[in-house]
Amino acid sequence: MKKIQLFTMVLSTVLLMGLANAGPESDKEKFQSYFAKKFPDVPYAEFANGVYALDKDQRANWQAIEEFPPYEPMIETGEAMWNAPFANGKTYADCFGKSAALRGKYPHWDSTRKEVITLPLAINECREANGEKPLKYKKGAIADLLAYLSYESRGQVIDIKIPADDQDALAAYEQGKHFYYARRGQLNLACYHCHAAYPGSLLRSDLLSPALGHLTGWPVYRSKWGELGTLHRRFSGCNKQVRAKPFPAQGKEYRNLEYFLTYMNNGQTFNGPSARK
Ligand code: HEC
Repeated sequence: MKKIQLFTMVLSTVLLMGLANAGPESDKEKFQSYFAKKFPDVPYAEFANGVYALDKDQRANWQAIEEFPPYEPMIETGEAMWNAPFANGKTYADCFGKSAALRGKYPHWDSTRKEVITLPLAINECREANGEKPLKYKKGAIADLLAYLSYESRGQVIDIKIPADDQDALAAYEQGKHFYYARRGQLNLACYHCHAAYPGSLLRSDLLSPALGHLTGWPVYRSKWGELGTLHRRFSGCNKQVRAKPFPAQGKEYRNLEYFLTYMNNGQTFNGPSARK
C-alpha cells in the first residue's frame, strides 16, 4: 500500500473501537470483537502469532525458522543468569520466588507505589536491591533473561487486572489508551491506524499485524535486528517509523501503554520468545 493511500484510508475510516469512556472491560470486549469481525477466518489463539496468522507464505517461512529457533541459545544464557548468584550470594529467586514462570504476573498495578510494574522493571529493581548494576532495557542481557522467563511461562493466559477501587490505576490505563489512539510524528499516525485500522494491509513491504496478539510473544528475535529485542524496543521502533521521538524504554509512557495493551489482550496466551522477520 502506498503511503498516500494509507492517509486517505485513515481519513475515511469509521472506527468501531471507540474512545468512549465505558471502562476497561467494555473497551476490551469491543477491541477483541473488532478483530474477530475483521478477521473471521483467524481463530482466536492464532492472533498470538502476529502477521503469521494472516499470511500463508510468510507463515510457512516462519514455521521453518521456528523448527530451529534462533532464540534458543538466548534461553540458555537467560537460564544461566537466573541461576547465577549476584556478588552478594543472592539470586533472582530471592526477589521473585523459585519459579521462573513469572510472565503472567506482569505488568501489574502497584497500589502503594501508584505505578505499573513491568517484568523488566522488577528485574532491574531486584538487581539494584542486591548491589548489581541495572541492565539496559532494549536488548542484550535483559532480553536473554526475559527469553528464559517467557519460555518457562509459555501457556499462561493473560489476565491482568485494573483495580476498580483505585482511580490512579484507571488513570494509568487511560493514559496508555490515549497513547495508543494519539496521532504522532511527521506521519501523524497512531498505533491504532497501523495495527487496528489496517492490519492485513501492506505498509511498504511490511504486512501489518493486528494489535490483538501484540503482547504475547516477547522478547522477539527479529531477523532484521539479528538479535533479540524487548517489547519496549519495538514500541520505540514503531514511534520512530512515524518519525516521532521515542520515549525511554520502561519510562511511564511505555509502561502505561503496555498496561493498556496487555489488558486489551486478556484471554490471549503468552508464547514468547518468538521469531519475527
Ligand atoms: C506507520 C505504521 C505503524 C505505526 C503507526 C505503528 N506501528 Fe507497530 N509495526 C509496524 C510494522 C510495519 C511492524 C512490523 C510488522 C508487523 O508485525 O506489524 C510493526 C510491529 C509492531 C509490533 C510487533 C508485532 C509482532 O507480532 O511482532 C508491535 C508490538 C507494535 N508494532 C506495536 C505498536 C505500537 C504500540 C504502536 C504505537 C506506539 C505502533 N506499533 C505504531 C508499523 C506501525
